[in-house]
Amino acid sequence: MKHIAVVTSGGDSPGMNAAVRAVVRTATLQDMEVTGFHRGYEGLMEDDGIPLTRYDVRNIIHRGGTFLQTARCAAFRTPEGRAIAAENLRKRGIEGLVVIGGDGSFTGAKLLSEEHNIKVMGCPGTIDNDLFGTDYTIGYQTAVDTAVEAVDKIRDTAASHNRLFFVEVMGRDAGFIALRTGIAAGAEGVLIPETPTDIHRLVRYLKTDFQKKRRSGIIIVAEGDDGGGAYDIARKVQAEFPDWETKVTVLGHIQRGGKPNAFDRILASRLGHAAVLALQSGRNLEMVGVQGSEVVYVPLEQAIKHHATISPYLLELVDALS
Ligand code: F6P
Repeated sequence: MKHIAVVTSGGDSPGMNAAVRAVVRTATLQDMEVTGFHRGYEGLMEDDGIPLTRYDVRNIIHRGGTFLQTARCAAFRTPEGRAIAAENLRKRGIEGLVVIGGDGSFTGAKLLSEEHNIKVMGCPGTIDNDLFGTDYTIGYQTAVDTAVEAVDKIRDTAASHNRLFFVEVMGRDAGFIALRTGIAAGAEGVLIPETPTDIHRLVRYLKTDFQKKRRSGIIIVAEGDDGGGAYDIARKVQAEFPDWETKVTVLGHIQRGGKPNAFDRILASRLGHAAVLALQSGRNLEMVGVQGSEVVYVPLEQAIKHHATISPYLLELVDALS
C-alpha cells in the first residue's frame, strides 16, 4: 500500500489530533503517502483533501478538537454518496483509509469497503466509550476528567447552599461518562440509560438521607437516561421535596473540548500507529482497540453491532459509597 487517507468523523473527541499525528508519522516511516480529508466523509465526497507530511502534524498532540475538522454526513449514508467518495479516493490512488470516529462512522467505513473494495481500519474516537471490543475510546478519559472537575466545583456551591444538584453529562445512548464521573466525584446517585431509572427509589433514598441531616447532594444524570433529562428528573424530585432547593447544570459540549490528558494522547498514539501497520499488513474492516495492555483488532461488524457493557460492579460501588 503506497497511499492512504485519514479522516476524523462524527463527534470530535480530545486525542483525535494525536491519532492523526500517529497515523501520518507511522505511514511516512513506512514510505506511504497520506492525504487528510477535511470534515470526515463530507470532505471525502467533496474531494477536500490535503497531503500530510510528518511536519504538518507538528505541535498538535496536545490540542483538543480535530484540526482536520469533522462532520456527521447524511449523504454518505446513501450508496450514491459513498460511490462519489470512493471515486475521489481512487482518482488519487488511495487504497486504504483510517477512520477515527464512533459507531456511525464505522458503519459508513464498512459499507465503503464492501461496496468499493477500499481497505479500511477504524480507530475508536468518541467521548462516549460505547464501542464494543475496546476498553477505552480516544477522548473518554479526558471527558471524564473535565466532568469531574466541573462537578467538584458544583459540590462547593451545593454544600454552601444546602442544595440538591442534578448534573447532566453527555452520553446519548451510554452511561459510561456518568458512571465514572459519579464515582470520582462522590455523587449521591447516578442515572444511566443502561439501567431503568426508578424515581421513587431515588426519592426514598433522598428522604432517608434527609432524615440523617444531609442537606446537599449531587445526582449525575446521563443525557440519554430513560427517566428523562436532568431537568425532567429534577422537576419530579422537587415535587416530593417542596422545601428543598434543587438545581440543574447541563455540562454539554465543554466535555468534548479541551486538551487531551496523557492517557488519551498515549492511547491515540498507539491506536493510530497500529491502524497504519494493520493496513500495511493487509488487514481490513477492523477496529483497533485496547484490551488490558494489548492492542487488539476487532471486526467492524462486531464493534458496530454489539454494545460495550457497563460494569455491574461499578454500579454497585456508586450505591455502596453514596
Ligand atoms: O457521541 C458523542 C456525543 O458527544 C454524545 O455524547 C452526544 O449525545 C452527542 O455526541 C452530541 O452530538 P452533537 O455535538 O452533534 O450535538
